Amino acid sequence: MGNADCGAMFKMLILSLLFFSWALSVTCSVTYDHRAIIINGQRRILFSGSIHYPRSTPEMWPELIQRAKEGGLDAIQTYVFWNGHEPSPGKYYFEDRYDLVRFIKLVQQAGLYVHLRIGPYICGEWNFGGFPVWLKYVPGIEFRTDNEPFKAAMEGFTEKIVNMMKAENLFESQGGPIIMSQIENEYGPVEWEIGAPGKAYTQWAGNMAVGLNTGVPWIMCKQDHVPDPIINTCNDFYCDWFKPDKPYKPKMWTELWTGWFTEFGLAVPYRPVEDMAFSVLKFIQNGGSFVNYYMYHGGTNLERTSGGPFIATSYDYDAPLDEYGLPREPKWGHMRDLHRAIKLCEPALVSVDPNVTWLGKNQEAHVFNSQPEACAAFLANYDTEYSVKVTFWNAEYELPPWSISILPDCKKVVFNSARVRIPACASAAAISRIGRISSVPVHFFFCISLQIGAQSSVMKMTPVINGLTWQSYNEEITSAYEKDTVAMNGLYEQVNLTRDSTDYLWYTTDITIDPNEEFLKTGEYPLLIIWSAGHALHVFLNGRLVGTVYGSQKNPKLTYTGNLNLRAGINKLSLLSVSVGLPNVGIHYERWNVGVLGPVTITGLNSGTWNLSTQEWSYKVGLKGEALSLHTLSGSTSVEWAQGPSLVLNQPMQWYKTTFNAIQGNAPLALDMNTMGKGQVWINGRSIGRHWPAYTAHGNCIECSYAGAFDDQKCRANCGEASQRWYHVPRSWLSPTENLLVVFEEMGGDPTNISLVERNVGSVCADIFDGQPSLTNWHTAAKPKAHLWCPPGQKISEIKFASFGNPQGKCGKYSEGSCHAHRSYDIFQKKCIGRQLCNVLVVPEVFGGDPCPGTDKKLSVEAICS
Ligand SMILES: *[C@@H]1O[C@H](CO)[C@@H](O)[C@H](O)[C@H]1NC(C)=O
Ligand SMILES: *[C@@H]1O[C@H](CO)[C@@H](O)[C@H](O)[C@H]1NC(C)=O
Ligand SMILES: *[C@@H]1O[C@H](CO)[C@@H](O)[C@H](O)[C@H]1NC(C)=O
Ligand SMILES: *[C@@H]1O[C@H](CO)[C@@H](O)[C@H](O)[C@H]1NC(C)=O
Repeated sequence: MGNADCGAMFKMLILSLLFFSWALSVTCSVTYDHRAIIINGQRRILFSGSIHYPRSTPEMWPELIQRAKEGGLDAIQTYVFWNGHEPSPGKYYFEDRYDLVRFIKLVQQAGLYVHLRIGPYICGEWNFGGFPVWLKYVPGIEFRTDNEPFKAAMEGFTEKIVNMMKAENLFESQGGPIIMSQIENEYGPVEWEIGAPGKAYTQWAGNMAVGLNTGVPWIMCKQDHVPDPIINTCNDFYCDWFKPDKPYKPKMWTELWTGWFTEFGLAVPYRPVEDMAFSVLKFIQNGGSFVNYYMYHGGTNLERTSGGPFIATSYDYDAPLDEYGLPREPKWGHMRDLHRAIKLCEPALVSVDPNVTWLGKNQEAHVFNSQPEACAAFLANYDTEYSVKVTFWNAEYELPPWSISILPDCKKVVFNSARVRIPACASAAAISRIGRISSVPVHFFFCISLQIGAQSSVMKMTPVINGLTWQSYNEEITSAYEKDTVAMNGLYEQVNLTRDSTDYLWYTTDITIDPNEEFLKTGEYPLLIIWSAGHALHVFLNGRLVGTVYGSQKNPKLTYTGNLNLRAGINKLSLLSVSVGLPNVGIHYERWNVGVLGPVTITGLNSGTWNLSTQEWSYKVGLKGEALSLHTLSGSTSVEWAQGPSLVLNQPMQWYKTTFNAIQGNAPLALDMNTMGKGQVWINGRSIGRHWPAYTAHGNCIECSYAGAFDDQKCRANCGEASQRWYHVPRSWLSPTENLLVVFEEMGGDPTNISLVERNVGSVCADIFDGQPSLTNWHTAAKPKAHLWCPPGQKISEIKFASFGNPQGKCGKYSEGSCHAHRSYDIFQKKCIGRQLCNVLVVPEVFGGDPCPGTDKKLSVEAICS
């Protein structure tokens, strides 16, 4: 039952309560047993997806939620972002991207449930793991342990959120969409590390949460033992091995990692959809009943919200919806088909435990048989190399390597995790012929866009504005000698001084050189060595950049070593220490430092080594350009900008600005920053995040197979290129005219090459296996069809590839195999060119006859959309 129905029922209940006290038994409720979450008396197999509200804009939310629903999700999961909601103690913010209630109500309006992960520790590659930085400076505090100041703060915020949800009637027990909440987050490893105080804290957190009486279950993830009635859940790439701590709790997966996060300097991770689908089926066949995709839409770490350090601005995550909110095909479509196929099995799945039998050395059958009502089977092949034919209940089935097939009636295969292909579309009449699925909402069976199902696509970034006219402004290097500086003896930790109000802290000191220093004659300049806790450091001598060093997420600490071209008299040594996101995970990460903590030494002077660590340093928080708000319209007019022939290019520490007019259409937009170094970007005064294309991606980018155990290192892309080249510009941040674009560049770059690009579909592909029934025609003898369609406003202009036989490769990179029907192209040329959509029956006759009788064949086709 949808939660909207329950809301209505709840209101009726209030009325009927006056007359019939027995009506209480039908109240809205969420409970659970060993098999599943039970919503209003019904066990449910639920699919959920993480969409973090501040990682997109409110204008994007309705479409993201709608696409999640069309992708077959029942629920949306989100963290609650404490540091966004309480930027300073007691000062709350719940507007714009942080309008939590609005987000939840939109999910409710779409008819989906919500899993609310309050935390308030959330990790999430989010700055400081979601904790406000001021929390670190509460006297006596220690994070995430049995510590009174911490527990008081945590309880205060958790209660604040729960009360807010209650006031809006958002819990399912009140007729709202929230079916579950979460307290803490992946605490198990910390508890294991710190022992007794960790155990006490877990008990306290659990009891505190349960005491808030939300009327819906609480979960704790990645935590082996939890206080009842809390449910412990699994987060991993695979969770089929997982068992809850008590036999009367359901087996739930709160984070199925759909990919992985991008770090500046590392190759970009991705996860093949065949393996992702395999992991879901392995979990479901082993009794799992709740799967949440982390992330379903990753989005963007706008402003300075990325954690890390070194987490990139894009939080795309290779999720089914890409960073821009567009379906990532074939991932989105294949998972939607999987959800439909599993929903066909739901009556059997929620009724019984599976009966497991071996079909071969590496092949298994899981049968959920509650005959005469329902029977569903999963046939699995764990072999990583070979397709295998198995016999199950007197019928033969071909199982591709590392794959699981779904048989919703224990007879016919409607889905295989490794066979990504376009299903034909179901008609309403066909649906009604599939029996015993009345509990499944009918909308699952209607094709989403037009008549078409999943197809692969290759996206392209098309420049819509380039050749912008730029102006530049020099950031002041010796600004530490102006106002707002503090002089102190010794070296101080960075966040203590900045409170993370900015990435930047200047450390400046004088080095006085006697004219009698030997090096002035020999030219053997003294060696400067700086030890810094991270994350990046620019070293200036007398106002000139002499070097830049930076760490990485694995090792944020850094050392600068370089000879200093000192002159006789007073020299100014200015160190610009730069943070790149505060840590979000690790034992007591609140104690981790940022900045130049020393020692700072110079060797090669007449008196040997000088230790600068304890001498007087001037501190200045932030840049002059930040103090002047150069990123805003009013601030940017407060200084003289250089332009035309005086425009400064490829120099460090430059501010750049330009304006541009509106972009037609509604395709998502991004900035191509490929020729820039490192810094930050603002549109109309709002930060779109840190850019760092100069940090080249390293890693192992060899072809990866979907088959075999996946981990976050297995599949990587972009080696040798920027880890992040494109930066999302939310459309809703633009005005019709005169949009102000401001870039601060630390390292040096060429802004004249920055372009604004539009993200759209470059080409679409289909892979159809000859003779295999599809999800929606499995009950008939219908032959498969290849459907191709370009998005509205685009048409098929070219057939880039077509082969019926044994073509190799993937969408965008197909090649012919040893078997190829020579008329593969003809039919597509004839039926598709110049049209938005077309379809072709996949039978040998259409392609001029069977090119290799007796072998399995496939059609692969790629069409260019223009
Ligand atoms: C499990 O399957 C095997 C093989 O089909 C069958 O012999 C056995 O009776 C089944 N067990 C149950 C409890 O259904
Ligand atoms: C933080 O900075 C202040 C000076 O502003 C200093 O007195 C204090 O000792 C510093 N605390 C830490 C933990 O570094
Ligand atoms: C420099 O001084 C600091 C602070 O007194 C001390 O910790 C460090 O060991 C000294 N380093 C050297 C190389 O003398
Ligand atoms: C800069 O842009 C021009 C024109 O778009 C292009 O040809 C050139 O390759 C770009 N340079 C770099 C370094 O990307």
